[in-house]
Amino acid sequence: MVATRTSYDAIAESYAEVFRSELDEAPLDRALLAGFAETVLRDHPDAEVLEVGSGPGTVTAYLHSLGLDVSGIDVSPGMVEVARRAHPAVGFEVGDMAALARPAAGLSGLVAWYSFIHVPGAQRQDVLGEFYRVLRPGGHLLLAFQVGDGTLHLAEAFGSDISLDFYRLQPDAVAGLLGRAGFELTARLVKAPETTSAASRIPQGFLMARKPG
Ligand SMILES: C[S@@+](CC[C@H](N)C(=O)[O-])C[C@H]1O[C@@H](n2cnc3c(N)ncnc32)[C@H](O)[C@@H]1O
Repeated sequence: MVATRTSYDAIAESYAEVFRSELDEAPLDRALLAGFAETVLRDHPDAEVLEVGSGPGTVTAYLHSLGLDVSGIDVSPGMVEVARRAHPAVGFEVGDMAALARPAAGLSGLVAWYSFIHVPGAQRQDVLGEFYRVLRPGGHLLLAFQVGDGTLHLAEAFGSDISLDFYRLQPDAVAGLLGRAGFELTARLVKAPETTSAASRIPQGFLMARKPG
């Protein structure tokens, strides 16, 4: 976790620059986020939503533009600084998704958009348990991740020395973890590889789940 934090601190500015328009080129991603926002608002008009691992804040700001009361947390203070500067109307705080500074059952929605990909296998079940704890009954969860097996380790990015592990995940395996955490799966999508950006050249998985109640 320390390595993840210091690595993202080192690349925060460059990462934000490169991925700033990522959503503009991803109509299906925008549609999923819009569907998630509409579902949360339908079920909980007073919805409070959290994006965990919000990075430069692009996705948080997009959800905000859709009418959600949403804020972001990220383990990297450098990322939080970048997000606050780019999106002053949205709240961003430093925080760890494994131990959220939130009361139980307070949130109507939680999004982990390419951030659960940094959680080592041994911790995944506990992290999903933490998501379950902070969501209210009927609350919705949205996960986005790269589909595959094994781990991509990066020791360098944007000219900086880093140490980042990107865990590829199988939708069935994540669905199993969600079920064991108590969630009901509500949607599953796997997007075939695209050439629109380097990040989308491998399949992308999206799962939506709901805390019963
Ligand atoms: C690949 S970036 C995705 C950023 C953003 N969600 C997006 O899609 O643009 C992953 C982010 O997750 C954050 N992160 C990784 N582990 C975390 C943890 N345990 N708690 C909170 N944030 C974490 C990283 O600092 C990084 O900003």
